[in-house]
Amino acid sequence: MSYIHKTSLIILIILVQTRLKVSAVDDPLYQLCSSSAGSFSPNSVYVKTLNTLLGSLQTGIVTPSGFSRAAIHKKLFGIALCRGDVNSTECNTCVVDASAEIRKRCPYNKGAIIWYDNCFLKYLDHNFFGQIDIQNKFELVNVANISNNPTLFNQKVKGLLSNLADQGSRSRVLYAAGETKLDTFTNLYGLAQCTQDLSSKDCKICLDEAISELPSCCDGRQGGRVVGGSCNVRYEVYPFLNSS
Ligand SMILES: *[C@@H]1O[C@H](CO)[C@@H](O)[C@H](O)[C@H]1NC(C)=O
Ligand SMILES: *[C@@H]1O[C@H](CO)[C@@H](O)[C@H](O)[C@H]1NC(C)=O
Repeated sequence: MSYIHKTSLIILIILVQTRLKVSAVDDPLYQLCSSSAGSFSPNSVYVKTLNTLLGSLQTGIVTPSGFSRAAIHKKLFGIALCRGDVNSTECNTCVVDASAEIRKRCPYNKGAIIWYDNCFLKYLDHNFFGQIDIQNKFELVNVANISNNPTLFNQKVKGLLSNLADQGSRSRVLYAAGETKLDTFTNLYGLAQCTQDLSSKDCKICLDEAISELPSCCDGRQGGRVVGGSCNVRYEVYPFLNSS
């Protein structure tokens, strides 16, 4: 199957996330380079194919969908997805940056994924379109804890994200964001998003799976994300999306 999958069955890492980190917009959150795929030589046709693929992903990405996919000579397959609230300027910038970084960080790999706050980009040397990527994922957790009634808080997080998973998976662009009241003064904000090569049904499966991982990473934490190659969920106690 996938080269990435062969070596890393499930990548689960916990990164410490603080609100300040958001300012470093140009740093990827994480990347995975396939290690067992072998490499291709710098001058090979493969490099040209990769360049063509990345170019196609960049030019193909248009809002409001914020999604593009490309297949070059049935040799390389790629997708790029921007976060649902990100405008076309930011989206393009992110995908251009992601293309440059993925080339730098995984120069001769036949498969790679790179994730940013605003977008992510993935390519592999076989057709993965329409398949839920359950293997490549990571978690980000806010170190700060909720001070009172974590049980109720966890329920609210699950409730909000489950609603968004439902709503998002039924929307055309497989994205939903929303908020709910925690108490008089505090709101809880969330998002759920899938790559648009998935069916509505598979999107829901992917999101439900991501939500089911929150108890193990993010119980009682003020913010958390489960980020994968096909979908991601996120919640915070502060507004983290661009207001439109
Ligand atoms: C796109 O979003 C960014 C960040 O919110 C904002 O600074 C910029 O003005 C927006 N650009 C357009 C064309 O709306
Ligand atoms: C939050 O709670 C966890 C689990 O009880 C604990 O290990 C961690 O140190 C706490 N974090 C902070 C910042 O207090």
